Amino acid sequence: MLSLDEHNLLYHVGPETPLGNLMRRYWVPVLESSELVAGYRAKRVRILGEDLVAYRTQTGDVGLIGEFCPHRWASLYYGRIEETGIRCVYHAWKFGLDGQCMEMPNEPPETDFSDKVCHAAYPCAERGGVIWAYMGPLDTQPGLPDLEWALVPETHRFVSKFYQKCNFLTALEGGLDPAHISFLHGVLGDGDAKSMEDFDRAAAGFGQSLRMQRTPHLALKTTDYGFILGARREAEGDAYYWRITQYHIPFHSMPPVDLGQDKLYHTHMWFPADDDHLVNWCVSWHPSRPLTESEREAMGSGLSIHITDFAPPTNEAYGDIRPRGNRHNDYLLDWEVQHTRRFFGVPGVGLQDIAVTETQPPLFRTGERLGHSDIGVIQVRKSLLAATIALRDHGTPPPGTEPESFRIRPASLILPRDQEWTSGAQSDLVSVVGNDSEPR
Ligand code: FES
Ligand SMILES: [Fe+2]
Repeated sequence: MLSLDEHNLLYHVGPETPLGNLMRRYWVPVLESSELVAGYRAKRVRILGEDLVAYRTQTGDVGLIGEFCPHRWASLYYGRIEETGIRCVYHAWKFGLDGQCMEMPNEPPETDFSDKVCHAAYPCAERGGVIWAYMGPLDTQPGLPDLEWALVPETHRFVSKFYQKCNFLTALEGGLDPAHISFLHGVLGDGDAKSMEDFDRAAAGFGQSLRMQRTPHLALKTTDYGFILGARREAEGDAYYWRITQYHIPFHSMPPVDLGQDKLYHTHMWFPADDDHLVNWCVSWHPSRPLTESEREAMGSGLSIHITDFAPPTNEAYGDIRPRGNRHNDYLLDWEVQHTRRFFGVPGVGLQDIAVTETQPPLFRTGERLGHSDIGVIQVRKSLLAATIALRDHGTPPPGTEPESFRIRPASLILPRDQEWTSGAQSDLVSVVGNDSEPR
């Protein structure tokens, strides 16, 4: 449970908020590269509480600028995109990639007024099919993150994203809570399963105590960039089965995949659009081979973490990635399915997560009851609070901004019982692609 002060520190991400200042020290995802056509039209985005528009100049550079023109606040969403910037359609002021006003055709030619007007604009770069922006002080701008999925060829990854109506931390906490997976995402089988006992019978498969399967022993170790969270279950012989989640501050988490899944990894970026909304980026990747057609089909089916079923698009920020399942239609919940086939009758892992996190009330952290299974939830708050307060009170540089700190993977492995888990998993937790290159 958090105090109201702690809740407020962790909730607000807008300009000049302590957590917002922390977030602005990292590269943040804006759009997929394919969403902007050179010289064509801008897209609205909302990033850390700021209304912005993203565009691609005629020569291919990406611009990110405050949506409302500083003259009389017409929307630059309608702007004319030129070779080196964007021009407001109201009185034709033109702005460069750095936000500097370059031309004011409605003012007398002898005035130097345009030199005095500089609009909010942020540097962008592209890596891994994603447009990234840096919104912090320019003298602390790090290199782009060396995320393995962003360094593999395009054929090796599948990227999706959706807009979610809750605070980013509420969604992120779900990604650091391995205990919910057996329940919220559990399958009951085809029978008439109505009780936890039926659920246990349907879930049988590891040849061990079912309670042990769904209530693993959790262990946590902090790292320079965040922490790793291990879920330990019994394995055949004198061994344990470890599933290890990675958390990289401030908004990346990587859940473990099932053993034997041929290194097909997944990750989320739980990125705050504003205090009450996030863009949930989901990426699946294989480090050394293209994804197969059937893998892409499964990812695009809407039944995995990837959401692909959206409401009719609008021109608002992220208006084209709002899931069709929402609070007003009970997230497409099928009550009959909930009685017979799944623990929760909402279709698809991603939508199941959305349903429970969007309906947690905003202030729940000041009245919750946390148990052992919540150690990841507790630690992510501690990590964010510590970094936020250290930056606010002492100007301490945030952890994990350097590109190489992102060279990580989740892991699933069998270890001897007497092997210390973090040392046993050490090599599995490091990414390969990008690790042999200089930081970029
Ligand atoms: S409002 Fe943009 S140029 Fe006048
Ligand atoms: Fe989940």
